[in-house]
Amino acid sequence: MLRLKNVTTHYGKVHALRHVSLHLEAGEIVTLIGANGAGKTTILNTISGVTPASGGDILFQKQVITPLAPDRLVRLGISQVPEGRQVFKPMTVEENLELGAYLRYRARDTTDEIRKDMQEVFRLFPRLEERRRQAAGTMSGGEQQMLAIGRALMARPTLLLLDEPSIGLAPLVVQDIFRVLGQLRDERGVSILLVEQNAKAALKLADRGYVLETGKVVLEGAADELLENAEVKRAYLGKDKKEIWER
Ligand SMILES: Nc1ncnc2c1ncn2[C@@H]1O[C@H](COP(=O)(O)OP(=O)(O)O)[C@@H](O)[C@H]1O
Ligand SMILES: [Mg+2]
Repeated sequence: MLRLKNVTTHYGKVHALRHVSLHLEAGEIVTLIGANGAGKTTILNTISGVTPASGGDILFQKQVITPLAPDRLVRLGISQVPEGRQVFKPMTVEENLELGAYLRYRARDTTDEIRKDMQEVFRLFPRLEERRRQAAGTMSGGEQQMLAIGRALMARPTLLLLDEPSIGLAPLVVQDIFRVLGQLRDERGVSILLVEQNAKAALKLADRGYVLETGKVVLEGAADELLENAEVKRAYLGKDKKEIWER
């Protein structure tokens, strides 16, 4: 469904991605793991057109999307949940979700359809329903992350790009959010490209994974194989990395 072929991305003279090739099939959760600065966010932003590639091709459903504007991608079914959540803090939960529908070009939809999608978000994240009239900025980090995901779902994506949803969240909240990601895959067949520093949790959820180092893919494979891989264990799952997923 999504394929990157030899994708290279620069920030001015900084070479952030070097010939990255990866793919994601329909209904798969694929995780990108790697240290800070490895290029994970750049991959998502290159796919979504925020930082366009300087070389290579990006194909979505066999169509080259490399030069497409971000709004066109949303119409194709690609939704991004950016790093740091970025919900509209003064607005209520409901207003954020409505914006997710309108900002993502469903302006012609009826209120009924939008209500129905909102109910579906509330089914996945009951906490959001309890807080539907609360200002987003007054909610906990976990609730804001749920809202950011919910807002992306309001566009009815077939591919979800997620940037470190677990960052700064307590383990139980991470579990809750990852459970919903699994549900989206299993019940709706949504494909998810999941960027994570929390390698252990991500590999437990994902079908496959790619390990990124300084802008290059250095390892790829089935998630359960990567979990057992000595190099991955040493670099990303070692004792000294414990705090990453247990904070
Ligand atoms: N806006 C930017 N301008 C210049 N360099 C950047 C910018 N954003 C990221 N970089 C550099 O690109 C590399 C990859 O960054 P990033 O994709 O954010 O990594 P990650 O998400 O894996 O932590 C890093 O070396 C980072 O310093
Ligand atoms: Mg990042």
